[in-house]
Amino acid sequence: MSSLTSPDLRRRTGGHNVRPLFSEQQIADRVAELGADITDAYPDGGLLVLGLLKGSFIFLSDLVRRIDRPLHVDFLVASSYGAGTVSSGNVRLLYDPETPLAGRHILLVEDIIDSGRTMQCLVELLSARQPASLAICTLLDKNLLPEPLPALRWVGFPAPSAFLVGYGLDHAEDFRHLPYIGDLIDG
Ligand code: IMP
Ligand code: MG
Repeated sequence: MSSLTSPDLRRRTGGHNVRPLFSEQQIADRVAELGADITDAYPDGGLLVLGLLKGSFIFLSDLVRRIDRPLHVDFLVASSYGAGTVSSGNVRLLYDPETPLAGRHILLVEDIIDSGRTMQCLVELLSARQPASLAICTLLDKNLLPEPLPALRWVGFPAPSAFLVGYGLDHAEDFRHLPYIGDLIDG
């Protein structure tokens, strides 16, 4: 993987230091495995893949191309109340999927689970709409919950407790376009 001082890398990051943790190839290999597992888990297809914007947009677009079943795609935009970088645990939907969820197999796709509060609230909110099933696939999991969420079925990688950027993950909207995932060491 490129070194921190690689001119190519720093050109993408605007001079910030992002220490690569998961390379493009590692991500592609893991996404292919997740896609194969999900393919096996839904033999009859018919699933509705719901991506949580914005963080999941790159992961979702790679993942669905690895799921070899009929599926539909929609998105959610959720907002936490409260300021700062710490999730308040109160989630409301700013964009609600247009597709009815009742009787559908929902696969909720997230970039990273940190405290788990966002997903906990979304699971509650979406379960109330009576889907046939509801499972979560997250690319990264910081694993801070005392018990994993029952709906959490697929995790791409366990994540260190650092602030990660790239492959959809941002810091103040920067770095989403990095093709790898790294640790922002000078925010
Ligand atoms: P939670 O509710 O604490 O699990 O927070 C999850 C949300 O916080 C994710 O959807 C991300 O948008 C954001 N987040 C948490 N950790 C990171 C990180 O390391 N990098 C970028 N975003 C993060
Ligand atoms: Mg997010």
